[in-house]
Amino acid sequence: MVSSTSSLEAGFPAVRMRRTRQAPWVRRLVRETSLLSSDLILPLFVIDGDNRREPVESLPGVDRLTIDLVIETGLRAFALGIPAVALFPAVDVSLKSEDGAEAWGPDSLICRAVRALKAAVPDLGIICDVALDPYTTHGHDGLFKDGKIINDETVDVLVRQALTLAEAGCDVVAPSDMMDGRVGAIRTALEEHGFTDTLILSYAAKYASCFYGPFRDAVGSSSALGAADKTTYQMDSANSVEALREVALDVAEGADMVMVKPGMPYLDVIHDVAQRFEVPVFAYQVSGEYAMLCLGAEQGLFDRKRAFQESLIAFKRAGARGILTYAALEVAADLPGNA
Ligand code: PBG
Repeated sequence: MVSSTSSLEAGFPAVRMRRTRQAPWVRRLVRETSLLSSDLILPLFVIDGDNRREPVESLPGVDRLTIDLVIETGLRAFALGIPAVALFPAVDVSLKSEDGAEAWGPDSLICRAVRALKAAVPDLGIICDVALDPYTTHGHDGLFKDGKIINDETVDVLVRQALTLAEAGCDVVAPSDMMDGRVGAIRTALEEHGFTDTLILSYAAKYASCFYGPFRDAVGSSSALGAADKTTYQMDSANSVEALREVALDVAEGADMVMVKPGMPYLDVIHDVAQRFEVPVFAYQVSGEYAMLCLGAEQGLFDRKRAFQESLIAFKRAGARGILTYAALEVAADLPGNA
């Protein structure tokens, strides 16, 4: 867009901005962005067992699902034109440990879920987080030693976790841990082990946000984490130039796609990244954002359907190629696809 055109434009009444808003047909014609079911990624929480769902109290309408119900939901998502799901395990406390070794166990809940879902719905993309927080007794994303999260040792085990997930059949590994150098290490290991087609969606600009609260309840890491925070590895919400450096590094290290997270409070960052990089950028409408919209609608403050559509088109307008949202199913039900 050339900024000087506006100064060349005639004024009122030759210009009446309302002319292009007067009827649905012309509003549709001049619309700059669209929201399609193919823009959406559905996050799902997995638990062990059969035919069981557990509501997540802080996430209205979201349940933790056993693998059979994950498959059922995956089929629904696929039928609605949603291209991919993001799976998160809610691991039994008995399987959590100081080093989170269950994260790279080949028979873990997440690996079993990936194998079963891939077999049942082969054309649905599967994205899995690479981070230790669902598996550690301290709730951190990395290894914790002498009061610190140790970077390089964490990267070594994240590589093992990523390889295990790729082996199970996961299409996209999504490092959400914010350790330095992990994307390059994971990419090298994937290449060396023949997983040349496994995609990396890096949580490149992930902020230390209060809006992850309900997610931490869902995977059971909030009680482990207690009063601790993740500010030594997740980004300071005051920074945006730093986000561009994070993205540049992850792209150089071999990320195929990058993410900005949370979404709504960071639309400027999504926009900056989309403007400066050719790599596809994704937004995560995180658990706290989703919960706020649900609760506002429940209180009668605004219409739920319109609130979700408006919040999601904002991500597209900012330049996001796709959006992770807990509302993906209900929103996609009203949208055209992009077959
Ligand atoms: C874990 C992870 C988190 C989210 C996605 N992966 C939480 C955190 O970093 O503490 C948050 C998602 C959400 O709030 O919806 N590494």
